[in-house]
Amino acid sequence: MSEEAFLQRTVTCGQLSAADEGRTVVLNGWVHRDRNHGALHFINLRDRYGITQVVVDDDASGALQETASQLKLEYCIAVRGIVRRRPQDMVNHDMATGEIEVKAEHIDVLSRCDVLPFMIEDENNAKEDLRLKYRYLDLRGRGMTDRIVLRHRIVKAIREYFYRTDFLEIETPTLIRSTPEGARDFLVPSRIYPGKFFALPQSPQLYKQLLMVSGMDKYFQIARCYRDEDPRGDRQLEFTQLDIEMSYVQRDDVLALVEDLFNDVFRKVLDVELPRHFRRLTYHDAMNTYGSDKPDLRFGLEMKDFTFAEGCAFNAFTEALSAGGAVKYLVAPASDRQEFTRKYITSLEDAAKVYGAHGLAWMKVQDGTISGGVSKFFADKAGEIIEATGVHDGDMILIVAHENWKKCCNSLGAVRNRLGADLGLIQDGFAFCWIIDFPLFEYNEDEGHWEAAHHMFSMPQAEYIDTLEEDPGAVKGDLYDLVLNGYELASGSIRIHDIELQKRIFRICNFSDEKAQERFGFLLDAFRFSPPPHGGIAPGIDRLCMIVSNVNTIREVIAFPKNTAAASPMDDCPAEVEPIQLKELGLKIDAAK
Ligand code: AMO
Repeated sequence: MSEEAFLQRTVTCGQLSAADEGRTVVLNGWVHRDRNHGALHFINLRDRYGITQVVVDDDASGALQETASQLKLEYCIAVRGIVRRRPQDMVNHDMATGEIEVKAEHIDVLSRCDVLPFMIEDENNAKEDLRLKYRYLDLRGRGMTDRIVLRHRIVKAIREYFYRTDFLEIETPTLIRSTPEGARDFLVPSRIYPGKFFALPQSPQLYKQLLMVSGMDKYFQIARCYRDEDPRGDRQLEFTQLDIEMSYVQRDDVLALVEDLFNDVFRKVLDVELPRHFRRLTYHDAMNTYGSDKPDLRFGLEMKDFTFAEGCAFNAFTEALSAGGAVKYLVAPASDRQEFTRKYITSLEDAAKVYGAHGLAWMKVQDGTISGGVSKFFADKAGEIIEATGVHDGDMILIVAHENWKKCCNSLGAVRNRLGADLGLIQDGFAFCWIIDFPLFEYNEDEGHWEAAHHMFSMPQAEYIDTLEEDPGAVKGDLYDLVLNGYELASGSIRIHDIELQKRIFRICNFSDEKAQERFGFLLDAFRFSPPPHGGIAPGIDRLCMIVSNVNTIREVIAFPKNTAAASPMDDCPAEVEPIQLKELGLKIDAAK
């Protein structure tokens, strides 16, 4: 394109201030708003940097007036004009460029805009599928633009941190042998080897471990990961991890590095000072006190054991205890935001039942005593209960009993989360915490065998190594999660680097030596060649951006996400392919499916 092809911008729409008065400038951008006040014509011109008010005065030439009158929303235009201060009473303090306006001398229409599917607003209220169908337009809105810019700044700060601290950024393949990490793989059929498949990586886990065997002792990657699972607010089929691995480290080295990283990134990008070290909770304490392994610590509402359950007259409580379970309570403080009506208590009970609770027991505190719900079973203990729980008039005691400790905790934890939101208890800010000492194995009831709670390459804590097979359920791993505001932000572990120990873990997880050799032979082979001790972690970039942007789905921080039905309305995929493509791959579609 020749230089004169169009009037090119000399400034952006977010740049001009009173200091630029008198300058002749050229702006390029979209017509954001267009107001015609008789002879005066105001155009708010927008680009990703901001909005500048352009004025076509009543003394403008006929040609300019004519062009201005033909403008429509979202036309892409070029304006040449002179910067002038706005009259004092017209200054707009809400606009970065609100002190000035540009008196247009010439306007060119660079391209016209069809009828819009929705208005370009700061936040788009259209249905999400419509937004996603026209995502390129949705991204023009201020909110989306700002979030994408923020995401860019976060990723930039992360990269800068790792470059400065001597990490190597290394890309790993996205066509790999399937690496089981808990989710289902996306498969890619091979044309050259009909009947064989690549998998898209659920994470670069094995590759980063192999890089440690190679001596790349400080590695990071901003890595795309793919998991064929049902999408949720904080989950997508494809997402981005900051993948980190280091050699010759122990758990606390990894935690210290991540604390340092987030301190740096939050300071640089958000001007927020985080605590130098993040609180640590064991998995057991997190579950027991907050009912979650990703507790939201922006509010209290701690759960405690309901010690009055033992030997009480209420069967549900005593039965739970005698079955080896737990009876736990929390106190919902009286609130002017939420009345504790029967209907509301039922809605809390429903939240608890999602996690397996049989019910939600309650007692009201009124006139210095307990009433309603299960209080009749504890009438003789009212004073003691009030004292032990520290309740006040108007509070509610909410209790879950379950024969399974974990289900008891999770159910009451769900109630805690609902209360935190409904009673307005959640403080602003960023509550980071580490969850450590996770169980290494989880029992898969459906398949009847143990499996790795995180993944099979994580190290058991030293004291359990000799006796792993005896009681896998008791083994704690050298595992850690980083939690932020109630979301699991990152997971990681110290890895196994001993071939025999790795094989033992495979066996416990129902992978025979032959099956392990078939699936992970390359890792076991590599472990024959002096692997260094190593460990790592992977924070989710999408979740990080979602939390700092204060939105509640990661779709709001991804330029082109899939929708809640795991599809892309814009390019209408997944989609059928040509029969010839299937033929080349040696694939047939089973019409019955
Ligand atoms: P994990 O599977 O826990 O660990 O994932 C690490 C982090 O990635 C993010 N994440 C997701 N984000 C969006 N959509 C998803 N479907 C999704 N799944 C995970 C979360 C999560 O905490 N290889 C290990 C890491 C390691 O051990 O180093 C792993 O992938 O923020």
